[in-house]
Amino acid sequence: MKVFVTRKIPGDFIERLKTDGNEVTVSEFNRPLTQEELINMARGVDFLLSLLTDRIDGDVMDAIGPQLKMVSNYAVGFDNIDIKAASDRGILITNTPSDEVNESVAEHTWALMLALARRIVEADEATRRGAYRGWEPDVFLGHNVMGKTLGIIGLGRIGSMVARRAQGYKMTLLYNKREPDRASEAELGVKFVSLDELYAQSDFVSLHVPLTDETRHMINKGAFAKMKKGAFLVNTARGSVVDERDLVDALRDGQLGGAGLDVFDNEPNISPELYDAPNVITTPHIASATWEARNKMGEQAVGQILTVVSGQKPENLVNPEVWEKRRK
Ligand code: DGY
Repeated sequence: MKVFVTRKIPGDFIERLKTDGNEVTVSEFNRPLTQEELINMARGVDFLLSLLTDRIDGDVMDAIGPQLKMVSNYAVGFDNIDIKAASDRGILITNTPSDEVNESVAEHTWALMLALARRIVEADEATRRGAYRGWEPDVFLGHNVMGKTLGIIGLGRIGSMVARRAQGYKMTLLYNKREPDRASEAELGVKFVSLDELYAQSDFVSLHVPLTDETRHMINKGAFAKMKKGAFLVNTARGSVVDERDLVDALRDGQLGGAGLDVFDNEPNISPELYDAPNVITTPHIASATWEARNKMGEQAVGQILTVVSGQKPENLVNPEVWEKRRK
């Protein structure tokens, strides 16, 4: 089988692919490939190991060729792949969710929340530029997190892990998702509310929904207007869930107290106005960047290709309906 890996990944997982005569090629570039490069390098392969920075649509699948059987995405999110186009063609798509990745993203969400509430980044910057003149009664006043209200939009695996950590801070936990999740309510003490209610009551709003047509720019002018004045927004999900222009306005006029952002609408580009807006913390899409998470992602992304090569159904099949009519 021919396998193409669009970029070198941490660890030695790629070596594992080189068994049973598999012919494995890894992009020589340590950067995302252009569409043209990807097609040229992947043409004729049976398996593609892709990253979330690769856009894989129907045209790319067709250009790679009718022998393409599977795209193993090295990410939890799969909004970079046209799933319908893959399913229509009998191409299997897998992703890499695991406790390791989910905990890593939940921890990063909390790092952003605490850093926002206590103005850690601003304070660090001031100290480094020599502005520290000794203890003062009124510098860098922030907010306690203890006892505040956290609104979680999307109570999946990551949202639940964020909620679990909030218990130590005795927070009131609100959530919104398509259907109420009674089991999580019992386990985590979270309360299902409408989005409007969540916006109105939350001191912190944290986003954990996938990017879909429904969630694209769902956090916009209208949503910000309904939020509690001075609330903090944390986004470790996908940048395009938030309308970045409206976010800048909400920060500028003080409707939002701050934003902790790991993801952006048009990555890797970040609206320059965000850097000038008050109390914004940006990290470069690193919520899953821990050794534990990335090792697990590598193990899964490679393991699922080998599982399919051996004729077995992989664990994290995003389009399970394709299994019976998959390309062979
Ligand atoms: C994912 O896996 O979808 C994350 O966004 C990677 O950090």
